[in-house]
Amino acid sequence: KKPENHILVIFGASGDLTKRKLIPALFCLYKQNLLPEKFAVLGASRTPLSDEDFRAKTDEFLPNEGTEEFKKMLFYEPVSPTEPDDFGKLKSRLEILGSERNMDPNYIFYLSTPPSVYEIIAKNLADQRLSKSEEYFRRLIIEKPFGTDLGSARKLNRDLLHYFEENQVYRIDHYLGKESVQNMLVTRFANGIFEPLWNRNFVERVEVTSAESLGVEERGGYYEHSGALRDMLQNHLLQLVGFVAMEPPVVIEADAIRNEIVKVFQSLRPISEEEVEKFVIRGQYIASTIKGEKVKGYREEPGVDPHSRTETFVAMKFYIDNWRWGGVPFYIRTGKKLPARVTEIVIHFKQVPHHLFNHAGMPGPVDNQLVIRIQPDEGILLKFRMKTPGAGFQAQTVNMDFHYSDLADIRLPSAYERLLLDSMQGDATLYSRGDAVEEAWRFVQPILSAWENNPHIPVYGYPAGTWGPEGSDKLIEDGQWRYPCKNLSDDGTYCEL
Ligand code: BG6
Repeated sequence: KKPENHILVIFGASGDLTKRKLIPALFCLYKQNLLPEKFAVLGASRTPLSDEDFRAKTDEFLPNEGTEEFKKMLFYEPVSPTEPDDFGKLKSRLEILGSERNMDPNYIFYLSTPPSVYEIIAKNLADQRLSKSEEYFRRLIIEKPFGTDLGSARKLNRDLLHYFEENQVYRIDHYLGKESVQNMLVTRFANGIFEPLWNRNFVERVEVTSAESLGVEERGGYYEHSGALRDMLQNHLLQLVGFVAMEPPVVIEADAIRNEIVKVFQSLRPISEEEVEKFVIRGQYIASTIKGEKVKGYREEPGVDPHSRTETFVAMKFYIDNWRWGGVPFYIRTGKKLPARVTEIVIHFKQVPHHLFNHAGMPGPVDNQLVIRIQPDEGILLKFRMKTPGAGFQAQTVNMDFHYSDLADIRLPSAYERLLLDSMQGDATLYSRGDAVEEAWRFVQPILSAWENNPHIPVYGYPAGTWGPEGSDKLIEDGQWRYPCKNLSDDGTYCEL
């Protein structure tokens, strides 16, 4: 079903996200005939641009042909977020656009701006009576970061809720827009075979890895104040944990699903500041040579302090104190400049209670794994042991492997495509709710505080192109990551920075 007619206002429209992600996603929706019958995009930012200039700016990320009709839906209004008068002009422009097209005043406001201006934009919209309406929909979409620690996250929620209701606020976590993340709900709750095993009785441990091969590229300035914990773990990784660990929701609806995710976050066993050194390992990539090419260390990247202690890698162990997961360790890690771009979840199952086949020559007991590949090569892999044909009872580990690409001809929609469409339809299922965001910050806050208050907690250097510092291997007492760091490079380069 097509969304209701509306105007999408993008603040920060002259920025990178708009032209790289939002406009291409809107174009894909347009091509699939999923946009409303009557629809317009109004770009709004400080830069003085005409409608034509704005349309021209989108060219770089749109196909060369077939975009004329789509571009006729794009408009632009110069608006400074801090200038109340500009919001008066914005309102008039919205009214004109609406009456020209004979549209109802339904508006979505997408803030693709620095978070420092979220509140003032919300206020200026409210002052123009644009934030609420009895009859029409008014929605606010915001991009992370939702605060930089627990205090600022709470303040942001409070500030926004002065002007909008919680059910009008859509907080984007683009990981939830990934097809393979949503598929986790289907895998778990549409099959009878996995869920009975999905608990402490059968699961040994759960592993979540989100590795990137890229470094910080041009974003050194931003990343310096963020680091892997804030940039990836507090949001994307914990959301993945939420999906993998939640209880079955009563229905597949926003509140039901988000209630279950919040419960997972509420059950995360708090890590005290004193325990941080034991359970959390941070690292920073240092210069190295990858495939014969010299690669810069993080401290040599543009915009980065040459003495920086910002982490580009973080791994941690924790528990979820609830009925389903009591005693099962969760290991999660993320990092930049690792050997591959791969995000996956691994459910490691318990071993058989008695080893019948542990005679000479047999590999150790099998570690049955269910690997949920979030990206790339989206799919699901089950590893188990089979008999090697021939005499005796030799066995080997084999794979049952499903690739999304086998569902022929189905193009995986981009995360932004899915999320934008959902927001247009008023479906917030794949958006983070304010209480979940706060719970996630509550969990990571002791780590932030410990690192801030105890300069002796090491930041380990790891050579770019390796799986992070050795310490992250040691977090797992019994077993190893699917891609461990050990055996990779042990030439003394795992130094303390
Ligand atoms: C963003 C982070 O939220 O996610 C980036 O700010 C990171 O640092 C990106 O590179 C990873 O997203 P994806 O979809 O490429 O895994």
